[in-house]
Amino acid sequence: MKRKVIIDCDPGIDDFLALLLALNSDELEVLGITIVGGNVDLKTCGENALKALKFTNSLHIPVYLGSDAPLQKKLENAENVHGEDGLGNTNIPNVQDGILKNGVVDFIVDTLNKEKDVSIISLAPLTNIAKALMKDKKAFENLSEFVSMGGTFKECGNCTPTSEFNYYIDPHAANYVFNNLVNKVHMIGLDVTNKVVLTPNMIEFIKQIDGELSKTVVDITKFYGDFYWKADKVLGSVVNDPLAVAYFIDREICNGFECYTDIVTEGIAEGMCIVDKNNLWNKTHNSIILDEVDDKRFFRMFIKAILKDKALEVEKYIKLLEL
Ligand code: RIB
Ligand code: CA
Repeated sequence: MKRKVIIDCDPGIDDFLALLLALNSDELEVLGITIVGGNVDLKTCGENALKALKFTNSLHIPVYLGSDAPLQKKLENAENVHGEDGLGNTNIPNVQDGILKNGVVDFIVDTLNKEKDVSIISLAPLTNIAKALMKDKKAFENLSEFVSMGGTFKECGNCTPTSEFNYYIDPHAANYVFNNLVNKVHMIGLDVTNKVVLTPNMIEFIKQIDGELSKTVVDITKFYGDFYWKADKVLGSVVNDPLAVAYFIDREICNGFECYTDIVTEGIAEGMCIVDKNNLWNKTHNSIILDEVDDKRFFRMFIKAILKDKALEVEKYIKLLEL
């Protein structure tokens, strides 16, 4: 049985890669893609989501534009990481016959009220999710699972010393979701995403196998790789968002622990995750913090999905990557 999901995202290079993984996965039925301003402005994120749908022949899947700004803060985008166009300044043409709908909160709430066993995979600031939860908390009692790429437990932040981008951009939304969602938040934070680096070797493999998506993936990850070399002397690019999708599909990819987590909303540590791993506050567990990852298992899934049209060659040569 395919698992029904709504993917909330801000494409962004790694969101785009995550969408390619999700849309090429037989395990998922993507009911809709909801967009939030984050890496770049809202409309550009929406256009980029349509490009991912076009590349995977999935334009029947609806895309909804949501919040263009956080609940309280001003949006600070990440064009320095993702390029002005959100896809590494590759300037891939917009999808002419693509439709960007409005009404993201109603879409989320109506879907949860109408459909059974729907999950949400969030790859962005949690503004849309918080607004939908504020509108109809009861609808979320039907939610099957909630996975969020965001936050950090022991790793340094990537926006401030304490905070990761998605939760830093909208700490009020993150705090609201962690403290009001009935489900536990499966938090795929920097503790695991920093360990999944798409290396130049993997990019070369994707290029040489030459699948339908290869050129696009090679082109958009160039800018990303340049950023990670300049910023952290990482050789390759940290692919945060695809790991959240992969974990949703295959739980063996990450391991972690249950606990209560709160999110700092004000001051120098805004966006910081306060992870009560030792249960000192004795509060009801609202999160599963993933802090171990089988990176090879992840990349086997990710590369096979990207090169889905070249499955035979991938089977024959993927051992070259020693995954
Ligand atoms: O911190 C990484 C996260 O912030 C990823 O989701 C990336 O796309 C940005 O949204
Ligand atoms: Ca994202």
